[in-house]
Amino acid sequence: MDGLQEANQTTDVAHALVRAVSRLVSTPTSVLTIAIALTIPLSAQPHYSSADVETGSRLYRNNCFVCHGPDGNSIPGVDFRRGQFKRVASDADLLRVIASGVPGTAMPPSNFNDGNRFALVAYLRSLHDTAQSAIGSGDPAHGKAIFEGKGACQSCHRVNGQGSRVAPDLSEVGGIRTAEYLEQSIVNPGASILPEHRYARVITMQGTTYTGRRLNEDTQSIQMIDTQEQLHSFLKSDLKELTLLTTTTMPSYKDKLSAAELADVVTYLLSLKGLESQ
Ligand code: HEC
Ligand code: HEC
Repeated sequence: MDGLQEANQTTDVAHALVRAVSRLVSTPTSVLTIAIALTIPLSAQPHYSSADVETGSRLYRNNCFVCHGPDGNSIPGVDFRRGQFKRVASDADLLRVIASGVPGTAMPPSNFNDGNRFALVAYLRSLHDTAQSAIGSGDPAHGKAIFEGKGACQSCHRVNGQGSRVAPDLSEVGGIRTAEYLEQSIVNPGASILPEHRYARVITMQGTTYTGRRLNEDTQSIQMIDTQEQLHSFLKSDLKELTLLTTTTMPSYKDKLSAAELADVVTYLLSLKGLESQ
């Protein structure tokens, strides 16, 4: 397998890097392939995984929202979007404050496990990154027009009841993803597929093959939706083969949208927070 193909199929840039570097050491002739495979800018990758940010977003809504507010600025002197704190600076400080609270103030201690505290920090940091990024400050109305028009995003995605169910519903995507992540999802779709958005291929005992987006899976069964928007449910005991695919059907819009159009689409997506009335 050549380096480019392998890197395209991996969902983890860091792994690709490690593999590419080890190959560089063993076969110097593939330097060019590696350079192409690594054009995904590492600096544009979010520091935290989007799964962490999503978990943190849910924890925030249930545990912190009531005092810190939807934009993280309800407590005077503390503003998560602006990265403004009273005494914490590092991620380690944040982890500590979330565990111990701030004695003598309303900020309560908690007993989240390490993973959940880490996810909360990921979310707080992502609020800041999103507010800082130029990509999140385009024109949302124009972004919506591109989404529904020239981008033809609705041919796969659904927003507030409009569009296809073939790809993930984006009605809440702005509440759980950062600007950087959304940008990457559009220009470099293969690099950031979440486990819950994986495609699966099954082969039944009769030998028929079905491919589609996995909706649910438990120990006994799997449900998926194919490219014709047909739902399929299979008992695993009826299947000869079940493979999770690491590729995506989403095309890259890298060369199809200008930088300004991309910023507009990302800004539109950031505005989608599951509040249909807006
Ligand atoms: C009952 C209200 C309340 C809840 C719930 C709450 N906080 Fe706070 N939080 C506060 C107050 C008040 C402060 C300001 C404390 C101070 O004056 O130093 C604060 C401060 C903070 C700070 C900043 C500390 C600093 O040095 O500036 C962080 C970070 C923070 N909270 C995170 C969280 C997280 C994460 C959650 C949810 C897991 C949460 N808070 C839940 C009231 C709350
Ligand atoms: C041919 C179908 C197709 C088209 C057209 C398409 N997408 Fe996608 N998109 C997908 C699939 C499948 C996924 C899930 C797998 C993945 O992450 O690549 C996805 C994932 C995404 C995600 C990540 C969602 C999440 O929660 O992580 C975003 C954001 C997104 N698409 C935006 C867009 C935008 C904006 C457009 C139009 C400019 C578009 N897509 C066009 C199929 C499509």
